[in-house]
Amino acid sequence: MTQKEAKDRIAQLDRELLEHNRNYYVLNAPVISDFEYDILMQELMELQKRYPQFVNPSSPALHPGSEYTPDTAISTEDAGESTNPNVIAAEPARKFNQLPHKNPMLSLGNTYDFEEVRAFDARIREAAGVPFTYNCELKFDGTAICLTYIDGKLVHALTRGDGMVGDDVTENVKRIPSIPQQLKPGYPHEFEIRGEIFMPFEAFDRLNMQKEMDEEPLFANPRNAAAGSLKLLNSEEVAQRGLDCILYHIISPESNFTTHTQALERASEWGLPVSSKARECTTVEEIEEFINYWDSERKMLPYATDGIVIKVNNLELQRQLGFTAKSPKWATAYKFKPEEALTPILSIDFQVGRTGAITPVANLSPVQLSGTVVKRATLHNRDQMEVLDIHTGDWVYVEKGGEIIPKITRVELSKRAINATRAPFPSICPDCGTPLVSIPGQAGVFCPNSDGCPMQRKGKFIHFVGRKAMNINIGEATIEQLYNKGYISEIEDLYSLSREQLLSLDKFKEKSASNLMASLQQSLSVPYSRVLFALGIKNIGEQSAKTLAHCFNSIDELAMATKEELMEVEDVGEIMADSIIDFFASDIHRGTIEALRAKGVQLWAGSEVEKVSNALEGRIIMITGTYSVSREEMKAYIESHGGKVASSVTAKTTWLLAGEKPGDSKIKKATQLNIPIIDEAFLYNITSDTEKAEGINSSTLF
Ligand code: IVH
Repeated sequence: MTQKEAKDRIAQLDRELLEHNRNYYVLNAPVISDFEYDILMQELMELQKRYPQFVNPSSPALHPGSEYTPDTAISTEDAGESTNPNVIAAEPARKFNQLPHKNPMLSLGNTYDFEEVRAFDARIREAAGVPFTYNCELKFDGTAICLTYIDGKLVHALTRGDGMVGDDVTENVKRIPSIPQQLKPGYPHEFEIRGEIFMPFEAFDRLNMQKEMDEEPLFANPRNAAAGSLKLLNSEEVAQRGLDCILYHIISPESNFTTHTQALERASEWGLPVSSKARECTTVEEIEEFINYWDSERKMLPYATDGIVIKVNNLELQRQLGFTAKSPKWATAYKFKPEEALTPILSIDFQVGRTGAITPVANLSPVQLSGTVVKRATLHNRDQMEVLDIHTGDWVYVEKGGEIIPKITRVELSKRAINATRAPFPSICPDCGTPLVSIPGQAGVFCPNSDGCPMQRKGKFIHFVGRKAMNINIGEATIEQLYNKGYISEIEDLYSLSREQLLSLDKFKEKSASNLMASLQQSLSVPYSRVLFALGIKNIGEQSAKTLAHCFNSIDELAMATKEELMEVEDVGEIMADSIIDFFASDIHRGTIEALRAKGVQLWAGSEVEKVSNALEGRIIMITGTYSVSREEMKAYIESHGGKVASSVTAKTTWLLAGEKPGDSKIKKATQLNIPIIDEAFLYNITSDTEKAEGINSSTLF
């Protein structure tokens, strides 16, 4: 690997892992499994070791659980449903009060390789120099919580957040039956105790069944369900969710215990929930035995576990060993490989997605996996089916990662029938019969009939009404009915639905019709950036829609942009630029946009920014680098003073606003075109914003 390749890969892994952290911690909707996440993290850490010169100080490898940098900070309204097509839901998070942790909430070093546990033991043994014991515990797969008790009363419950500051979820935690609000005597005056809040399988199945009946997106796994439930708006609802808790780490200045085992025994005497499954081990062989036992026995537990935590038992030795920036040196986690099950494929369905992608889904002989019965599993696309070399009737291994739909990982060849043939893949769309095509640079095959294929059209409605799009309160089954009855054919038809049409649907009464009408009306105030996402332009996700809405103030500007202009937008590559051009080239799409405009849907950004002054009227400002505020805030600031933020440096650009670490190419281009480069202070002088100008030292026009 060359230096350049290493640098690029490190930057890419940083970005990817940050995004996955955000999916996991903020949205409670991971799109990859823990196993896949750990592999990426390991790769990043190894590269950082070999190329320390390329380590970014804000890398997620150095900050466990880091969700976002100031530039990528998201509003809590974002913390809803995932854009992952596999329908993973999180509940809308509310803004909880944030409180700092007295002691940072660290993570644990972890491994899938028992050899590394041996190495951990060897390190500890060398440092300790005297005989000592370990305490081995189950690693509970839920969401971490930090409880503070003062004089025996529960006063605070904080989530882990970014490890330094957490959300105050005390009111919700008080509704979890196993967490006492008042302790039994014997407790220290003040102490913190940490543990895991989780949702037992039974409660999880009940919740998802209810969600299915209510046509709401399902939770991917009990861990997400626990994290989502903990952030519910209504504490009464939390009480209904069947959450449970196990505590495993006390931090107390005063104590009458010297080992971790004793600490947890005391906690149990005070009435706190601790695990009965822990075991003290003296040798690494005993640890191995404990791991092997629970690797199979955990399948009998009523809740999810994902490994074993090995902790030095003696608290004084723990103190001597100390911490790294990320995790204690006195503990580590051995993670179980994802559970898998072996079962035969009964048949394969070919689903047509919103974008025309054909997804093969295997119908399996039902099999028990991680506490639930699995009947279907995704084969992703035609390429993946070829890689796996799926034959008709094959027995396959199924695994559940972070996603709700299990996946097929490999075939058990010893069970393949001698005369078995390769499972056929259709050459025409199973829904509309159009011949399928491959798209260069994209895996799998697609139905190109995007405006005529019924499945794709229905998929577009489902996407349009989604929570992160127009947020219209309507379920898939209702869309299906409306479509089949011919009431909706193009997106804009949603806004022409009559009360009579709604009342003619199954299970629709006056109240549900009124609710839907009100929800449609409300969607007219959804901001332009979300409308842009809702339109379902191929390859344009929620984040890219936001970026595009910032760079192109209205849908008309976006429609007129050239491929080159589009590609100058940060994060917009050739594939995205082509998708945008293709989208606006279609008469049908242009018709939809005009119809939506006539109905009052927001198609420009002006309405989103409150005007403060006209100081920057007529100025086109390109921004580069970092400022005292986030880039999003800077864009909004310029727009609020009447300026326009440009997507690239062109002859029309008034200024290039250069923050710290500006982009070389932009500076070069501005210099070539004789465009003045200004700094933040200069901008604030123009807007006569003395308050902001005072916060910055110099005012230079270079
Ligand atoms: S001890 C300072 N013990 O796993 C050490 N953590 O991947 C604190 N977890 O952040 C952690 N079961 O949320 C510990 N028996 C257990 C655990 C456990 C689950 C979680 C915890 C931690 C994460 C690390």
